Amino acid sequence: MNILVTAGPTREPLDPVRFLSNRSSGKMGYALARVAAARGHKVTLVSGPVCLAAPENVDTVNILTAEEMLAAVRERIEWCGALVMAAAVCDWRPAVVSPQKIKKNGASGNLQLEPTPDILETVSPGKGSRVFVGFAAETGDPLPEASRKLARKRLDLIVANDVSRADSGFETDTNQVSLLDSTGGVRHLPLMSKDEVAAEILRWIERKAALVS
Ligand code: PMT
Repeated sequence: MNILVTAGPTREPLDPVRFLSNRSSGKMGYALARVAAARGHKVTLVSGPVCLAAPENVDTVNILTAEEMLAAVRERIEWCGALVMAAAVCDWRPAVVSPQKIKKNGASGNLQLEPTPDILETVSPGKGSRVFVGFAAETGDPLPEASRKLARKRLDLIVANDVSRADSGFETDTNQVSLLDSTGGVRHLPLMSKDEVAAEILRWIERKAALVS
């Protein structure tokens, strides 16, 4: 199966030396790409800026901004049988990007932001029989918001993680997730390594793809 995975943060520039971003290390998305390749899938990884080596046997495409990630995903939607959006895409970007470094005494203190495109919502009209998986990064009980995102983004599966936990979410080697599917099924997984979480997600995708094909 052809699997498109996104990983890492996006960076939204403010000027040539500053940007808005988040704490994503890329570990969750890279685990998905690595484990998918090891399970015999053809994998393309669209990655934001991270400090991880490109996984073996994976075609890796490096991007910086949400707009660039959207373009890279759009280009490959026809190719893929499954899309897994593990990337932490910035929801906002500076409304104006200064071509020069903003001087300390030149900044007003007011940063005007505008929304970035929602990648999943933009590509969902071309979903067809493809399997779409998203993540929900929440602080506190992730289930209510994850279930809203599952419906709004028209996903087959959403992987909910509580990113306020010290052992889960951003930067950690482990993750505790719940899998919510579009038929109302919910599975709470115990704390696992990100490779083990990736294997659970991939097994779910393989079963789903076998049902729809
Ligand atoms: O990279 P790590 O350090 O290993 O951390 C892993 C992780 C916490 C980043 C990962 O487990 C995770 O939760 N990824 C999704 C982070 C996120 O952006 O969640 P969200 O709830 O804001 O977004 C919901 C879904 O919409 C996500 O699949 C996201 O990729 C997607 N999205 C978000 C914004 C946007 N503009 N376009 C999108 O498609």
